[in-house]
Amino acid sequence: MDIGAAAVVALAGAGPGADVAPADRPIGVLWMTTMSHDVADLSLADEGQRLIDWAAQEMPVLRLIRERFEKELPLQGLRVAGCLHVTTETANLAIVLKAGGADLRLCASNPLSTQDPVAAALVARHDIPTFAVKGEESDRYYGHIATVLDFGPQLTMDDGADLVAMLHKDRKDLLPGVMAGTEETTTGVIRLKAMAKAGALKFPIVAVNEALTKHMFDNRYGTGQSTLDGLIRATNILVAGKTFVVCGYGWCGRGLAKTAHGLGAHVVVTEIDPLRALEAIMDGYRVARLEDVAHQADIVITVTGDINVVDRHHLEKFKDGAIIANSGHFNDEINLAALDDMSTAVTHPRPFVAAHKLGDGRVLHVLAEGRLVNLAAAEGHPAAVMDMSFANQALCAEFVARNHASLVPDVYDVPPDIDREIARLKLKSMGVAIDTLTPEQERYLASWESGTT
Ligand SMILES: NC(=O)c1ccc[n+]([C@@H]2O[C@H](COP(=O)([O-])OP(=O)(O)OC[C@H]3O[C@@H](n4cnc5c(N)ncnc54)[C@H](O)[C@@H]3O)[C@@H](O)[C@H]2O)c1
Repeated sequence: MDIGAAAVVALAGAGPGADVAPADRPIGVLWMTTMSHDVADLSLADEGQRLIDWAAQEMPVLRLIRERFEKELPLQGLRVAGCLHVTTETANLAIVLKAGGADLRLCASNPLSTQDPVAAALVARHDIPTFAVKGEESDRYYGHIATVLDFGPQLTMDDGADLVAMLHKDRKDLLPGVMAGTEETTTGVIRLKAMAKAGALKFPIVAVNEALTKHMFDNRYGTGQSTLDGLIRATNILVAGKTFVVCGYGWCGRGLAKTAHGLGAHVVVTEIDPLRALEAIMDGYRVARLEDVAHQADIVITVTGDINVVDRHHLEKFKDGAIIANSGHFNDEINLAALDDMSTAVTHPRPFVAAHKLGDGRVLHVLAEGRLVNLAAAEGHPAAVMDMSFANQALCAEFVARNHASLVPDVYDVPPDIDREIARLKLKSMGVAIDTLTPEQERYLASWESGTT
């Protein structure tokens, strides 16, 4: 740990490993400090910079935005608080925001997702105050969010809404200074919409997740590939031939099912939404209730954004050796408290694998403490999809900086022009040209007169 001139006065939080529902998660952390940064090891900065540069090669859209931001400085002097997974791709976003003139502070949006060399490079090479250490305990995680809030942000950039929730619960004094925010993920958008509905949200937030150039690619292809990557890095198991249960057939679940199928798994989908269940069947998968398929499952991965999707009665049915993981935002999808209660011993045969020995002799394997397995055990999404997600973040930051005066406290969709522009730039970077409407076609598509000929 490198805490600069740290002066931690008091801490009071959920406690290490606390595992409670997001709404009830205690965030009454008091962390008064003069820290300039808190990263694992600044000597990792060179390695971090090499990894950031490697990811940058796959982020051409963000590069174009950076070139414009350097000239136009649309975020000049704006204090930005970022609570994001501290990965190579996020580092490239942070560099773009800084190039646009932002005064940025960064903390992690998950205790296990930080890439320590990247955090070191952000501090040592880019002078971006960063507060993130892979494996940080709950107190330190929330303490870092509190530290980032301490400098009184004008713009928030959140992934899961932990920062915005703390701002509204514990730092109401800072709310008048916040002009707007952005939110990266499905779970965060759901929380913010609940806040807006209850009249609790005090500033406008753009839901980056709702952009088509975000969830169609990041949630589907990004989560699909990187979740398998996390599973394989953690376990080194062969996926082919396994019964692979995907809980939730939303954007992430579709990508996960497709990738697992591509590797030769027998995919079974569980759902609570009849339309999504039907879609999964017609996409070629078996659909079943989790309790009916639990005894056959070799691998179970949750991607729902829901709580206790894998519950005690499922754990009671899983076969010996089953692997259970989560790629949804919070570590609430697997009932780990019930599993701990059922366990007589827990060992760690490999990093990120907890082997729970149960009273009846079975062993169940939980990956990455039930946290996002793709970010904890692998490196999160490939840079090529984060290029579009973070292009949305950068352009939405510019949008709210320019337009916040005309926005009210609510959750806004990404302006369609931004979405289409990002798709256009991404295609251009791939060297793909598409057709354009002829004047005749434009007239035809806008008219109603012509019909059957
Ligand atoms: N791992 C990552 O890097 C990553 C990336 C993007 C999103 N996410 C997170 O993944 C989660 C899912 O995101 P999404 O965009 O796919 O959301 P989504 O709303 O498109 O899909 C979620 C699906 O889960 C289903 N579901 C809800 N409760 C269920 C239950 N008990 N059993 C079975 N199915 C259930 C819903 O009906 C829905 O179809 C969210 O928490 C999101 O924040 C993670």
